[in-house]
Amino acid sequence: MAGYRIRNSILIFLLTAVLAVLPVPLARAVADAYTAQHVTLTWTDKVTVTQTITWKTESSWPVGKIMYAEKADSNVFAAKATVVTAVSRPLPADGSGLVVHVAALTGLKPDTTYMYRLGDGDSWSRSYWFTTAPADTAAFRFLVFGDSQSDGYENWGRLVRQAYRDNPQAAFLTVVGDLVDVGADYSQWREWFDAAEAVISNVTIMPLTGNHETYTPVWGERTMPVLFTAQFKLPANGPDGLQGLVYSFDYGDAHFVILDSQEREEARFIPDMLARQQAWLDADLAATAKRWKIVLLHKTPYPVKSGRSNESVKAAFVPLFDKHRVDVVISGHDHVYARTYPLTGDKITAGGTIYVTAGRSGAKAYQYVTPNELHEFFHNPFEEPNYLVVEVGQDKLSVKTVSQSGQQIDSWQRPQERTQEKIAS
Ligand SMILES: [Fe+2]
Repeated sequence: MAGYRIRNSILIFLLTAVLAVLPVPLARAVADAYTAQHVTLTWTDKVTVTQTITWKTESSWPVGKIMYAEKADSNVFAAKATVVTAVSRPLPADGSGLVVHVAALTGLKPDTTYMYRLGDGDSWSRSYWFTTAPADTAAFRFLVFGDSQSDGYENWGRLVRQAYRDNPQAAFLTVVGDLVDVGADYSQWREWFDAAEAVISNVTIMPLTGNHETYTPVWGERTMPVLFTAQFKLPANGPDGLQGLVYSFDYGDAHFVILDSQEREEARFIPDMLARQQAWLDADLAATAKRWKIVLLHKTPYPVKSGRSNESVKAAFVPLFDKHRVDVVISGHDHVYARTYPLTGDKITAGGTIYVTAGRSGAKAYQYVTPNELHEFFHNPFEEPNYLVVEVGQDKLSVKTVSQSGQQIDSWQRPQERTQEKIAS
């Protein structure tokens, strides 16, 4: 008994001694460490010299700052770093208690890796990195994911992490709408970002909305996709009322245009939303001198799911795709991978626009989907999700479609000849 007491006394003494020599604020420092959630890279301006970074914190961290420096300076990071204060606003999700911080970094060097940390000026997060686009880009690769909408986002996370691991040189990635099932339900976004953050804090994402971004927990009730626009900061060069949802940007010799096909859901808020986009699209495509023109919109003008038609979207946009000779239009919504022949209007025409439906990156799949005579290739990813690897080169645009298990589903190219024809015309 006496021995037991002595052993206890020794243990208590040792424990007290250890606590005494620990750095005093250790426990407090752990509790106070700046915790940035859902760190996300986008562009709101030129891809070569800017980077926009968005993150969230609990409301106990109302101020957001970013400290950044070229990676070459990382061993003297604190001394060399520039500090920028973010624009910080409450996340428009009732009861989330979160603040969204947005910092747009400008005046960066092209083709340069930067290290950054997020904080409030006193406490800072771990280090992250991003790399700006080269000024002279002969060729680049980007990744396209179909609808990630699911009843759980672990599998989406596995797919996007695997795709990035297999394509670490990807310049950016996109998801073609319906990222989540109910866009006004923040708990779904939380799962989506938790699953994707390891990738999108390192490589830029340029996503677009689908119909599900307008859905609310009340059946049949719709909203503008405010949680999408709060969490993804995208170029504000679109038409009035649709900024951040409709936008364009350039990467290398390609011009990318993102459109909003949700007329059925959003016309109740913006009745002329298609007309606004038509005028803007006509001017936007007329103004670009880039070799490749690539359009992304959620609902394809050429649906493959039976019973679906997107006639108003098709009537608004396809004549402009033809007029400006858009190379490729990539869509989602049908949860199927499908590729049309080159089309002008509804006619198969050499040198026309190719319409691709990107398949799915989430859980939702349709059993009954059928191609029509305009489709050159069709695959229902019912068994497993997929993604697209798009290589944009000087001579050709190449696309490979890959399943989650790494099987090649489709591979096709649009050669330079059409470009020459386009320049000659
Ligand atoms: Fe959809």
